[in-house]
Amino acid sequence: MKIIVCENYEEMSKAGADIIAGLLKEKPDCVLGLATGSTPVGMYKDLIAMYEAGEISFDRVTSYNLDEYYPIEPTHEQSYRYFMNQNLFDHVNIDKAKTFVPNGLTKDPETEGPAYDAAIEAAGGVDLQVLGIGQNGHIGFNEPDDALIAGTHVTDLTDNTIEANSRFFASKADVPTRAFTMGIGSIMKAKKIILLANGENKHAAVAQMLHDRITTQCPATILKAHPDVVLICDKKALNG
Ligand code: PGA
Repeated sequence: MKIIVCENYEEMSKAGADIIAGLLKEKPDCVLGLATGSTPVGMYKDLIAMYEAGEISFDRVTSYNLDEYYPIEPTHEQSYRYFMNQNLFDHVNIDKAKTFVPNGLTKDPETEGPAYDAAIEAAGGVDLQVLGIGQNGHIGFNEPDDALIAGTHVTDLTDNTIEANSRFFASKADVPTRAFTMGIGSIMKAKKIILLANGENKHAAVAQMLHDRITTQCPATILKAHPDVVLICDKKALNG
């Protein structure tokens, strides 16, 4: 795993945006795997600025998001579809018909996951997957467990994740307890992965990812088996 150590959140965001911008120039019709959460917001802002400056274009891009609460309306302010529209899609020239987020309203969650993976394959696979990391070492909503699931699926969220995400909701009771997530296999199929982490509260998870053996109890450790992962982090996430 390659590591880019940054002084702060702004540098981390710029480093991530530069990698995505490089791909957009090299392969304008690339498939991006995108992530939500507070970590990538600055990176998306930088990409919007580069778009506005005429440096990059999203007109031929297809995107697949990593996860989505279930059930949730796409118009719900905490849905990941809403987040992506607000933080990126509404501000760049991406064709929204080519932006995909797991369907938080599906009546058939058992088939939604496999269909999502099949659509990614049919699009040629993800060229670049953006990831954050949970304080508990989760990637997407692949939570620490005795076993992990390869494909996109619905999962129960752990109390730690519900607590961490409650900051975005009126109360902890309002946080959905289930979500769709790309599975570990779906994530590992991406040709390149960038994982963004900042702040001391991510240090334990980052340290475990880097230094522990691969374990399902820290799903991010599995990334060590991928040939092209770049960890972009600030010093606090890396060193505590
Ligand atoms: P965060 O979430 O960016 O809001 O910290 C990251 C994650 O849980 O994967």
